[in-house]
Amino acid sequence: MNQTDFAALYSQHVRVLCQRADEALARGGFDHLVIPSGTLYYQAFDDRDYPYAVNPNFKAWLPLTKVPNSWVVYTPGQRPKVIFHQPFDYWHVVPDAPNGWWVAHFDIEIIRTADEALALLPRDASRCAILGEPQSALGGFVPNNPEPVIHYLDWHRAYKTPYEIALMREAQRLGVRGHRAAEAAFRAGASEFEIHMAYCRAVGQDANELPYGNIIGLNEHAAVLHYTDLGRTPPQPLRSFLIDAGASAFGYASDITRTYAAGGHDEFQAMIEAVDVAQQQMGAGVRAGVDYKQLHVDAHLSLMGILKDFGVLKVSPEAALATGVSAAFFPHGLGHLIGLQVHDVAGFAASDKGGRVERPEGHPYLRLTRSLEPGMVVTIEPGVYFIDMLLDEVKQRGHADSIDWTRVDFFRPYGGIRIEDEVLCTEGDADNLTRPEFAKA
Ligand code: GLY
Ligand code: MN
Ligand code: MN
Repeated sequence: MNQTDFAALYSQHVRVLCQRADEALARGGFDHLVIPSGTLYYQAFDDRDYPYAVNPNFKAWLPLTKVPNSWVVYTPGQRPKVIFHQPFDYWHVVPDAPNGWWVAHFDIEIIRTADEALALLPRDASRCAILGEPQSALGGFVPNNPEPVIHYLDWHRAYKTPYEIALMREAQRLGVRGHRAAEAAFRAGASEFEIHMAYCRAVGQDANELPYGNIIGLNEHAAVLHYTDLGRTPPQPLRSFLIDAGASAFGYASDITRTYAAGGHDEFQAMIEAVDVAQQQMGAGVRAGVDYKQLHVDAHLSLMGILKDFGVLKVSPEAALATGVSAAFFPHGLGHLIGLQVHDVAGFAASDKGGRVERPEGHPYLRLTRSLEPGMVVTIEPGVYFIDMLLDEVKQRGHADSIDWTRVDFFRPYGGIRIEDEVLCTEGDADNLTRPEFAKA
């Protein structure tokens, strides 16, 4: 997709955002929506700034991720306005003058110092819903994040516009390009660090731009769910490789995981293939009206079926689920909402007025408890791992007989398996955003 195509979709996106803002402001009793892009933070006792992370509410409106001290202002019935900070600065690269598909849809005010925004914000700060972090306060414009406004906007952010879907497909395209390069580096015997570098080079993004820190684990490291150490020396022998890495496209994230076996490790390869087949079936279950909690519980049964087939589990999947043994092998949630943030907001929201849908008991890490509806994009990321700490708990709880420990010893050196795609819920069949990119590559 090229820039012209994004432009064609953007006007409808802005219309939707204006409609959502109209309703959110009405619910909160405010006249204006005011969204700071955020500011730079400095490290304690130092003049080094932390990597800048744009306010997600700001980048919902604009494909801009690198303009701190800027603001979006929306007043119902008026064109949205952006106050665009383009400082005179010879120490740093300053943002380019406004350009791109968004400029035709905004009134644009350029400011050269952060304080100049004050004169351009609405007259009465008390009439504004100001969405941001405390550090973005400017004069009387202190972020108030009114709950009725936040509840409404967060809830509706789950329903992606066609423009957002197009950008998320672009994030898939970039991420898969990186995954291909990473697999090639693994096959060539690279270290975790070298694989990470190959990934970044292929995507054209570094750690500050990627949507989250790359998880690149060789052998046993695949069992550390958020392993981000990046070893400098490849282990010998190489047995397995798990990579969980995404890419950003104009502020939208992808979040993709693949697991590979080194040549000659046929039984682990067969287990990867079994999880891959199951993962695709789970993805096909993303349909309007389906309760994501149920998909998660079904995933437990499916994965335990695989462990039974491979001789790791000695009891039925149902028994493993009931005793909590399955949670030792699959100790995270099936997935989450994704979009402007990798773990996008409102995964537990009961409605656009607030409230919370709790997780099922015994599943403390599930991040999404809503029912699926068209427009939602979720990850589907089943995994099985061999994690001693969790397996020891199984023994302590008196369920050691559920497991064939010689099979655990066999698979432990591979760490684990996770496979993760993004799936769009539609009016009909699930639309897997990730797989078509791998098919092309
Ligand atoms: N990469 C973090 C996750 O999969 O949720
Ligand atoms: Mn992931
Ligand atoms: Mn994920």
